[in-house]
Amino acid sequence: MFETLQVLPADAILGIMTLFRADRDPNKVDLSVGVYQDDAGRTPVLECVKRAEAAIFAEQETKTYVAIAGNAGFNAGIEELLYGPNHPALDAGRVATIQAPGGSGALSVAGHLMERARPGMRVHLSDPSWPNHLPLLKLAGLTIEQYPYYDYAAHGIKFDAMMAALEKVEAGDGVLLHGCCHNPCGADLDRDQWEALTQLFEKRGIVPFIDIAYQGLSEGLDADAYGVRLMSARLPEVVVVSSSSKNLGLYRERVGAVSIVARSARERATVLSNVSNVARGIYSMPPDHGAAIVDRVLHTPELRTLWDEELGAMRLRLNGLRRTLVQLLHARNVPMDFSFIAKERGMFSFLGIKKEQVIELREKFHVYMVESSRVNLAGINAKNADYVADSIAAVLKA
Ligand code: LMR
Repeated sequence: MFETLQVLPADAILGIMTLFRADRDPNKVDLSVGVYQDDAGRTPVLECVKRAEAAIFAEQETKTYVAIAGNAGFNAGIEELLYGPNHPALDAGRVATIQAPGGSGALSVAGHLMERARPGMRVHLSDPSWPNHLPLLKLAGLTIEQYPYYDYAAHGIKFDAMMAALEKVEAGDGVLLHGCCHNPCGADLDRDQWEALTQLFEKRGIVPFIDIAYQGLSEGLDADAYGVRLMSARLPEVVVVSSSSKNLGLYRERVGAVSIVARSARERATVLSNVSNVARGIYSMPPDHGAAIVDRVLHTPELRTLWDEELGAMRLRLNGLRRTLVQLLHARNVPMDFSFIAKERGMFSFLGIKKEQVIELREKFHVYMVESSRVNLAGINAKNADYVADSIAAVLKA
């Protein structure tokens, strides 16, 4: 049967990671996959995670199944992070949250649930969005459309065009928004824009589908959840997917969550039963270890404080690297204004250079980024920063 299939092109992001790993050049620089790196170029296990793991290993007495919905302490902890204390939707018992295998697993479960609730449902993605959103949600059976978002020439959000397009979206459609640290462009909605979108969604009966995979890496855990909290307080139904890959560095453990705000506590029970049934039908139960770590970190006061410090250090470093890169590029008199990079947030920005220049950076200078010119700022460090800036300047002037 497999003669009907064809070999597919490598994944837009993970394919670059593979090329990078195969490169033997000592000066190679990885600005591709969205993984945090420290100033030594490492992606260390967080200390709060190490300590939580040690306690789990010492105390765990069984590997028996947990539950379809995963770890209840994790789910409650994620709700606290997403909605904050005393959130009206939580207080009204309208929120159903289940653990899922990573942010991607959460997206998939949410997609299948939406498709079950409303067969053929349309979901509108920002142009651009994370490249895996489209195939992943299509596999769930959703119909995918796009709305304008990033203005490549002005290096900012085309908010008027976005609103105009969303005005025409049909009632009941879903609109995927990035909660913070937009992947790939780094240009985030401000509070007025979240407010305008909330009013529009209310008026038009649009369902927000918020992907918040980078909470805590822009301004802080609470500030980054502003949009999630606003929409969940004001709209009848909200779908939120989150990840512990980036803010807790648990990438390979696959820890994410689907959290759904339903219209009532009664409807929450229906949603919970269906979202659990969807998960059971795809993978039965999520992996435990990562979620057990998150549960411990969130519910052990010393570990929670330590996490806040470690997350704060990652955030500070990312925001500092943005300013550093702009300074280094401008010091080389490059023929482009890169100051927008310092205003964007999270791990990513588009350099806004041509695809040929991206390829030249990779092939000639061993500096790897996604072909869209998306860079992961965390790949820059004290040792390679000048080299990165020199390489970008060289391809721009060529
Ligand atoms: C990225 O965008 O680089 C990350 O989210 C990793 C991935 O799976 O694509």
